[in-house]
Amino acid sequence: MNLTNAVALVTGGSSGIGRAIAATLIASGTKVAITGRNPVRLEEAAKVLGAFPIQADVSKESDAIRTSEQTVKHFGHLDILVNNAGVGVFKNLADLQLADFESVFATNVTGAMLMGREATKHFIERNSGNIINIASTAGLRGAPGGTAYYASKFALRGMTECWRAELRKHNIRVMLVNPSEVITDFFSTAGLTQTANESKLRGEEIAHAVKAMLEMDNRGFTTELTVFATNPHD
Ligand SMILES: NC(=O)c1ccc[n+]([C@@H]2O[C@H](COP(=O)([O-])OP(=O)(O)OC[C@H]3O[C@@H](n4cnc5c(N)ncnc54)[C@H](OP(=O)(O)O)[C@@H]3O)[C@@H](O)[C@H]2O)c1
Repeated sequence: MNLTNAVALVTGGSSGIGRAIAATLIASGTKVAITGRNPVRLEEAAKVLGAFPIQADVSKESDAIRTSEQTVKHFGHLDILVNNAGVGVFKNLADLQLADFESVFATNVTGAMLMGREATKHFIERNSGNIINIASTAGLRGAPGGTAYYASKFALRGMTECWRAELRKHNIRVMLVNPSEVITDFFSTAGLTQTANESKLRGEEIAHAVKAMLEMDNRGFTTELTVFATNPHD
């Protein structure tokens, strides 16, 4: 597709990977709406990027519906949904609280489903559209402490396969991106410490992958793409 004058909605576009994706799409001539819950961070990002801010929580059905409506009202239509908003809780199974588990699934799975559903209604009407789900290498294999987060990314990967099977006949391209570790606020928000250095991925590498996937001619699409750092070290 041609990204010039296309319209994209990037959930969690106020920080990290989503912000880098929004910046790259805007630099390619795409009109971009970004979402997030924290209004201060959202407004700052929107101002710097030149994006349209929509304060919304993907896990709330009314917010998801409003986000889709506001984007279409502001830009006239929607071509691309990037389901990027995500959170993590990392605890061993014996220590995992129900609320921890449910909060991760609420954003990473239910939120992605709600946003995907609302965009899909619009895409089916237009007989065209693109959905990029940002999962993780955590969706490819398990690890200790990963019950909530890893399972949420397996679930997102599973939903992606269902949507792909359902929606190809409507000319909707459903794609999955699995980043390995990326330097963002994700870890501090999850109460973890991340060592940032030049060997590790930045949001820019994930944005590069997203742009390349979208720019393929509409007759084809990349189903799934995993991005590793070449030689990461702490
Ligand atoms: N960083 C990594 O190493 C890594 C690796 C693989 C995959 N990922 C995935 O990449 C995605 C982006 O993560 P990131 O690393 O860029 O983290 P980040 O810097 O913490 O950004 C997360 C973004 O999601 C938003 N968000 C969180 N919950 C939300 C909700 N319920 N509704 C709306 N927005 C919400 C945040 O804004 P508010 O908090 O203001 O809502 C923020 O804009 C996530 O899905 C994550 O699982 C990250």
